[in-house]
Amino acid sequence: MESPRDPAPGGPPEADATRSAHGVATFRAGDLLCDRFRVVRFIARGGMGELYEAEDLTLGERVALKTIRPEIAVHERANQRFRREVQLARKVTHPNICRIFDLFEHRPPEGTAGAVSFVTMELLQGKTLSQHLREHGPLSVEAARPIVQQMAAALSAAHAADVIHRDFKTNNVMLLDAGLSRPPRVVVTDFGLAHLVGDASSMADGGITVTGDIPGTPEYMSPEQIEGGVLTPASDIYALGIVIYEMVTGRRPFAADTPIATALQRVVGPAPTSPRELKPELPEEWDHAIMRCLARYPDGRFRDASDVAHALDGTRPSRPPQSRLVIAAAVALLVVMGAGALLWRGRSTSLATTIRSRSNDCGTGREGPTGSCRARVPESRWPRGRAVVIDGAVRNADD
Ligand SMILES: Nc1ncnc2c1ncn2[C@@H]1O[C@H](COP(=O)(O)OP(=O)(O)O)[C@@H](O)[C@H]1O
Ligand SMILES: [Mg+2]
Repeated sequence: MESPRDPAPGGPPEADATRSAHGVATFRAGDLLCDRFRVVRFIARGGMGELYEAEDLTLGERVALKTIRPEIAVHERANQRFRREVQLARKVTHPNICRIFDLFEHRPPEGTAGAVSFVTMELLQGKTLSQHLREHGPLSVEAARPIVQQMAAALSAAHAADVIHRDFKTNNVMLLDAGLSRPPRVVVTDFGLAHLVGDASSMADGGITVTGDIPGTPEYMSPEQIEGGVLTPASDIYALGIVIYEMVTGRRPFAADTPIATALQRVVGPAPTSPRELKPELPEEWDHAIMRCLARYPDGRFRDASDVAHALDGTRPSRPPQSRLVIAAAVALLVVMGAGALLWRGRSTSLATTIRSRSNDCGTGREGPTGSCRARVPESRWPRGRAVVIDGAVRNADD
């Protein structure tokens, strides 16, 4: 299981936090940044920089402050892109999403170290889901349910605002104590910040390249993210499936010796073991919902994250992935019927033939048994075969 990187040793918040477990932190307790933020303590080192607790002297509030690694911050194009993402993410306000406040650049006095960019965000007092699982093991369905509902609500709200997380994982989910016998409040962190670690598209864009880094967090990446494909909300839904799988079984669906080998399994390997095989008491709805999140291709997954929560509850039948195609087929049928009406009215038969033949082409290139449009069978197969790397992306050699 993933471990939070270099958490600060316990101790009073005001303690000098110059050192993290693996090196010297950028700031010391007491440092004043941008004439506005007083560093209180070092929290942890993550994939894109360091996390601090700081006091915002202007607003009189404690905030979380995340530094951006210099090799990323100095890259002008990556920086501009990152600014756009932060602006977008700032617009999403939801109780289950960590609020991002702003981007700053701290310029130390001449002769000292270089400028440091950082983002300020809501300070969350709690544990990550990753920590919780490490300390307490897998969760019961009853305990997992309210957490999943809140994670799904966060993803759904962000997707509605066109923000894709891209790095959804147990370490980006904070559990905040909500009081005795109440489920924790769940807050998803790092919306809009993920491509600081350099996703495939930003690299293809001539963007950032961080030596020695695998973009994103491989254990939670969707097959299309591994392949360097276009990311959509379905990629976050895939990651949500991995997180739920891990919450209820205590292990991730794909496991190999190295992160790259684990990632490869998702692209060319067989379907994962169903969670119910590992945990027989898991309700069938949970098993189906998790496996549907993990469909190899995006169109086999849920269309909306909120549908995942509904499917687990069994409260509302979720929309089948091909519903749009079924609607298209119905529309095509209506067109054919309209054409028939035209024929009946003695109009030109050639017009009806043209409409009929066009309506058969629902992007499938196949004609249904009655000549009407036939919905495509969803691609649920799992390709097996040899993996090759093309343009830096992992692909199935048989494709
Ligand atoms: N907004 C926040 N408030 C308080 N602590 C946080 C916040 N965001 C992250 N943390 C803590 O900092 C640690 C490192 O976070 P982060 O740098 O985002 O790591 P990662 O790159 O794995 O996402 C987390 O494991 C969590 O314990
Ligand atoms: Mg994080």
